[in-house]
Amino acid sequence: MRVLGIDIGGSGIKGAVVRTGKGRLATDRLRIPTPQPATPDAVAATVAEITAHFDWHGPVGVTFPGVVRHGTVHTAANVDPAWIGTDAGRLFSKATGCRVVVGNDADAAGLAEARFGAAREVPGVVIVCTLGTGIGSALLVDGRLVPNTELGHLTLHGDDAERYAAESVRERLELSWADWAARVDEYLHLVEALFWPDRFVLGGGVSKKADKFVPLLTCRTPVVPAALRNEAGIVGAACLAEAAADRHH
Ligand code: BGC
Repeated sequence: MRVLGIDIGGSGIKGAVVRTGKGRLATDRLRIPTPQPATPDAVAATVAEITAHFDWHGPVGVTFPGVVRHGTVHTAANVDPAWIGTDAGRLFSKATGCRVVVGNDADAAGLAEARFGAAREVPGVVIVCTLGTGIGSALLVDGRLVPNTELGHLTLHGDDAERYAAESVRERLELSWADWAARVDEYLHLVEALFWPDRFVLGGGVSKKADKFVPLLTCRTPVVPAALRNEAGIVGAACLAEAAADRHH
């Protein structure tokens, strides 16, 4: 199956056609800066632009950095609050004329890791954490996703854990790798005490630098970096659409 995958991020919206059997891109990537303010209509116009660029009429998967249930956005911790209550599935379908499935960004990354990456054929419970502007999570049980787990919003030191341990915090506070690793470690200990997973997979751009912090982690759960790198969002977006199509057949 071929699916147009589109990854909505805070600074860029990226898309490419994906071969879902292999998790590989069938075209080059197109990146368009995220419109500011990133309101639903402005983002829908960009999604339509990407679809038109690829002259695409097939299925489309789109990731969004908030809770998405049956196409409707319910939270927007790091994006424009106008999204809350928006039926993004319908909005994007109308804007593009295509069948569009929208899902949470970390869930998309989790599906991609389960199919093609560091959670592939791993039995039991795997938690994929994406460390970026915020912290996203995907809970996989024998490869099946439990969507919208939002573990970045667990409370740590009296606030959302993502405000303590996300990659953006390391950058903003100019933390050393050791200091930031200690924060990530505290966070993983918290998640581990509640879920007892068999494996943590750490994603987000910082997974490229796993050797700088993963060896410093002390949680008992094995930690591995995500296998999908630059293309994780786009491939994950396509996985969302494919998983939805499978459910309807
Ligand atoms: C949002 C999640 C999202 C994560 C990563 C969090 O603030 O609540 O839905 O997956 O950021 O973008």
